[in-house]
Amino acid sequence: MKREKMEYRLKKALDPQRYAHTLGVERCAREMAQRFGEDEEKAALAGLLHDCAKCMTLSQMQKAAGGEIADPLMRESKALLHALAGRCVAKNVYGVQDEDVLNAIRWHTTGHAGMTKLEKIVYLADMIEPNRKAYPGVEALRVLCRHDLDLAMHQALRMSRDHVDAQGKALHPDTLAALEDYEAERAKP
Ligand SMILES: [Fe+2]
Ligand SMILES: [Fe+2]
Repeated sequence: MKREKMEYRLKKALDPQRYAHTLGVERCAREMAQRFGEDEEKAALAGLLHDCAKCMTLSQMQKAAGGEIADPLMRESKALLHALAGRCVAKNVYGVQDEDVLNAIRWHTTGHAGMTKLEKIVYLADMIEPNRKAYPGVEALRVLCRHDLDLAMHQALRMSRDHVDAQGKALHPDTLAALEDYEAERAKP
């Protein structure tokens, strides 16, 4: 699908705030790809489409995710499920074939152990893009994102854990696994 058509569809599928966020993530992901030696076009495309399913209802998301059945925690959470649904919508509606791009969309909410560079970039761009409402720690995270992808990722995962803790919710096992990956790395002599 051509870029203009994607924009047109996204604008219809998302509320104006979410659409502005989407463009912010696209730009931010492209910049980070440049900085860290990743494919710019893939990063920009994944950024543009990462929230393409975000404004659906839970049952629409469940339907869109179709055969790719989510675990129980994800299945009942719009905040988590829109990533899996988004992967399917990006593929089936926006015609994205590239598995790297689809995976970056798939993993942008939870992360997972052993993330690719592209997945990290989209995960982080989502957290630091300039249209996002400010939250504690975002400025420090932006600085890390300019210098070190893995330090930034470790910090972002800790912030996600603390955020979920503060809400009294359960941390998704994939996020825990991603975090443990980094903690284990740090514990090495
Ligand atoms: Fe999202
Ligand atoms: Fe997002």
